[in-house]
Amino acid sequence: MQTQVGIVGAGPAGLLLSQMLHLRGIQSVIIESRSRDAIEATIRAGVLEQSTVDLMVEIGAGERLKREGFVHHGIELRFRGRGHRINLHDLSNGRTITVYAQHEVLKDLIALRLRTGGEIHFEAKAVGIDGITSERPTARFTTKEGEERELDCDFVAGCDGSYGVSRNAVPAEEVRHDYFRVYPFGWFGILAKARPSSDELIYAHHDRGFALISTRSPDVQRMYFQCDPNDKVENWSDDRIWEELQARVGGDGFQLKMGPIFQKGIIPLRSFVCEPMQHGRLFLAGDAAHSVPPTGAKGLNLAAADVHVLARALSSFYGTGSTDLLADYSRTALRRVWRAQHFSWWITSMLHRFHDASEFDLKRQLAELDLVTSSRAAATTVAENYVGLPLT
Ligand code: PHB
Repeated sequence: MQTQVGIVGAGPAGLLLSQMLHLRGIQSVIIESRSRDAIEATIRAGVLEQSTVDLMVEIGAGERLKREGFVHHGIELRFRGRGHRINLHDLSNGRTITVYAQHEVLKDLIALRLRTGGEIHFEAKAVGIDGITSERPTARFTTKEGEERELDCDFVAGCDGSYGVSRNAVPAEEVRHDYFRVYPFGWFGILAKARPSSDELIYAHHDRGFALISTRSPDVQRMYFQCDPNDKVENWSDDRIWEELQARVGGDGFQLKMGPIFQKGIIPLRSFVCEPMQHGRLFLAGDAAHSVPPTGAKGLNLAAADVHVLARALSSFYGTGSTDLLADYSRTALRRVWRAQHFSWWITSMLHRFHDASEFDLKRQLAELDLVTSSRAAATTVAENYVGLPLT
């Protein structure tokens, strides 16, 4: 099998890239280890930055997102039992965020790609990437029938997430540097059949730990609370979950709207960056190159930003033969990645309870929350980062 750009992974990065290349007349083939059903059913993030929404619209995948996504003009930070609004819209020159689940983004992108003649091989598991320092790299994969196949291409885009094979194709000793931080807590996430408790997302600081109230639709709510990363879902009955969430977000009479919980899971929190994001003709994008704690709501948006840079660089190569933008890919993408790492770490450190925290640390956290909700300059910093930088 042959193509111009071989894309490993049909997540947000791979699918967006494939469509952007298609619009520039560049061929690609996607290989993806999971089934279409599994991808379209996996619950992940839910917040799209303004520029991610704009990109979806620009490539023709914005119709349902515009119709069904929820545009939010602000977020609430709750601490000392009281809510404080950050007006994202006014503090960021009219930019907003849109709440629309990642798997809905993926459904829209897969449908669009297939409708426009895209080639996606589901249940095709990449097992290795060869010849990345040659002119003709190859992605090896096994089909669902168990056959070994090869995808020969000009470039490989490694968009196969944190556990994919792409990153490991960059030699660890000579070339690659991994920057890693594991946080000593996780998030317990639920989906509940309930009415929204709030019009906007609530990020709560509490002695018992962080909590987040988000939404998916008028009938389905997404909520999280900080937990021990080694805790077990079985330890948490529905009643215990509601009690914990209510304890962390209550205070001034605010009451959560409850309902049957139909999904529970624990996610670890970590920060990771792999540098460089390119080696030879292999380009890493999205979670294959980095992950951020979900507190800043940046994961999917960073993936979109990476492939925006990469699509332009590939387009410049195929249009003019110049490799300048390709050579700049890693440096350009990493600048935004580290900005997002800093922001995600900052918001995480401001809102979570650290097990070794002293009284001093707690007072400092509250002072920082006072700062970002009372100083216009500090609130603007939160808002600008949360709605996201324009794509470069
Ligand atoms: C979500 O709705 O899943 C969500 C929202 C905001 C975050 C993280 C996750 O910061």
